[in-house]
Amino acid sequence: MRIDILTVLPEMLESPLRCSILKRAQDRGLVEIQVHNLRDYSSDKHRRVDDYPFGGQAGMVLQCEPVDRALSHLKSQRAYDEVIYTSPDGVTFNQPLANRLSLHRNLIILCGHYKGIDYRIREHLVTLEISIGDYVLTGGELAAAVLSDAIVRLIPGAIGDEQSALSDSFQDNLLAPPVYTRPADYKGWQVPEVLLSGHEAKIKDWELQQSFERTQRLRPDLL
Ligand code: ADE
Repeated sequence: MRIDILTVLPEMLESPLRCSILKRAQDRGLVEIQVHNLRDYSSDKHRRVDDYPFGGQAGMVLQCEPVDRALSHLKSQRAYDEVIYTSPDGVTFNQPLANRLSLHRNLIILCGHYKGIDYRIREHLVTLEISIGDYVLTGGELAAAVLSDAIVRLIPGAIGDEQSALSDSFQDNLLAPPVYTRPADYKGWQVPEVLLSGHEAKIKDWELQQSFERTQRLRPDLL
């Protein structure tokens, strides 16, 4: 898989993409993530990429030209499955959407910007708009990092134990069961007896029952 991220703030994406599972997946060649600075596609001598909005509202708007040039450049090199725009008005990101996107070969994520981007880009070039929740961020970079993280960890081989991605919260519309590690008794706080029993079937039953109970109590909307 390949993910190309277009942004005016590439430095904001540096550390989230260079750590932990995302780094390992890139090192193993499971995914290539390229971050592109939209200013590199500006034709302005000061590398400007935004301008005042028509209509006189406050804030600056990302212009069509640098975005169009960047997208044309990428699309001339390979076919993309989606051109995603991160925005609070997009569809809300969730696990089924992460699963679907993880099956694609090439994705572009265009990061939203202060007041937004020229709407013509959204009308003509963007194929999918995604929000990571009902709140407003200063830009789409953190949202792009969230999408990349949730998608990449689903690629087979990205997580050491493949089972663990399948048993995530939400993967079957249930929250994950509680987990524990040694010691079995910490300050008198006990690990549930069944987990120490070594009885695999009983443990599976207990985990499922915990998942149902936690989902009913904490996220009944998922059931
Ligand atoms: N840009 C600003 N807020 C956002 C959000 N909630 N989701 C995605 N992109 C955004």
